[in-house]
Amino acid sequence: MKLPADARFSTICIHAGQQPDAATGAIITPIYQTSTYVQDEVGKHKGYEYARTQNPTRAALEANIAAIEGGKAGYAFASGMAAINAITSMLKAGDHVVVTDNTYGGTFRLFDKVLTKFGLTFSYVDTSRLDLVETAMTPRTQMLFVETPTNPVLRLTDLAGVAAIAKTHGATLVVDNTFASPVLQRPLELGADMVVHSTTKYLNGHSDSVGGIVVAVKDEHIEWLKFIQNAAGAILSPFDSWLVLRGTKTLALRMRQHNENGMRLAEYLETHPKVMRTIYPGLKSHPQHDLAARQMRGFGGMLTFELASEAAARAMLAKLRLMSLAESLGGVETLISHPASMTHASVPAERRAEIGLTDAMVRISAGVEDAEDLIADLAHALG
Ligand SMILES: Cc1ncc(COP(=O)(O)O)c(C=O)c1O
Repeated sequence: MKLPADARFSTICIHAGQQPDAATGAIITPIYQTSTYVQDEVGKHKGYEYARTQNPTRAALEANIAAIEGGKAGYAFASGMAAINAITSMLKAGDHVVVTDNTYGGTFRLFDKVLTKFGLTFSYVDTSRLDLVETAMTPRTQMLFVETPTNPVLRLTDLAGVAAIAKTHGATLVVDNTFASPVLQRPLELGADMVVHSTTKYLNGHSDSVGGIVVAVKDEHIEWLKFIQNAAGAILSPFDSWLVLRGTKTLALRMRQHNENGMRLAEYLETHPKVMRTIYPGLKSHPQHDLAARQMRGFGGMLTFELASEAAARAMLAKLRLMSLAESLGGVETLISHPASMTHASVPAERRAEIGLTDAMVRISAGVEDAEDLIADLAHALG
């Protein structure tokens, strides 16, 4: 099987990085559940010596996602946070990073509670405002770390715009593309240097694996990622690599349904009398709808809405029958959460207020069920 050089997106998702197994012809890359590899003689091996350093299942996944994101190489880690940590290990004491202000809470925790101990400094900026990004850049700024759309208020950053700023200042642009998935946006095409994912979410898509991946284009980044993956050892297991590889085969298909359900639920909620506000990039009422339409190929499965009070939000959540109250996102089943007390509980209340996250907000990760069933569930719970 040879993937044509001009293969399109779904074809790349299904085939990139994989060849039928040389020994048996198995069409699916096997789970190479081994810790070591037998060598023919001293110094003569088949490219695999020890499984922290190389594993064929992981290598297939890394090549697959690198192709999906349009990058040169990918490195898979034990979680999204391990992947982000690997990226920041490129920095040294004294370096400064500009970060999207409502970045994922775990990213904020890593930066604020761990990496500041090693002399790194961070500025949290509303990166939807390019003027604020420009102002935050200092001679010590080595990295711009951006999330778009953000969680849970779905604010967007103009990726080509921040890429231009990063380039002018000689800084590395890293985009956490977890929320959008590469189906909706490919930041490397817009000038980013690295893309990171929690594969736990849309890439795996079935809520049964925790993992992360970094895709890079520049040789210096690729060399470091390969080095740190082996040196620090936070690798993705063969089984998890296999699960995510299975997930990416249906990524394009799944995202179509996530997009459709996201839009259907947003339209329903926007006109519901008990809903004060619905935030979804696909709605014309979203303040950055035009940017979303320009930058994204579809608006995704994530939406947030606000009820009259926290009590109303909690009462509604208690009445749902089909949607599951849970953290995480990007799976085939619809998940619903109360960000202020769940995913963002570790974010101080004043920071939550700054980013517009209220206690009355509810976030939905629309799955791929029939939209009518999801709407009926919401109608019952809101009624
Ligand atoms: C946008 C984003 N980035 C990174 C992470 C961290 O990923 P993981 O939970 O796989 O470590 C998450 C997890 O929710 C996330 O939502």
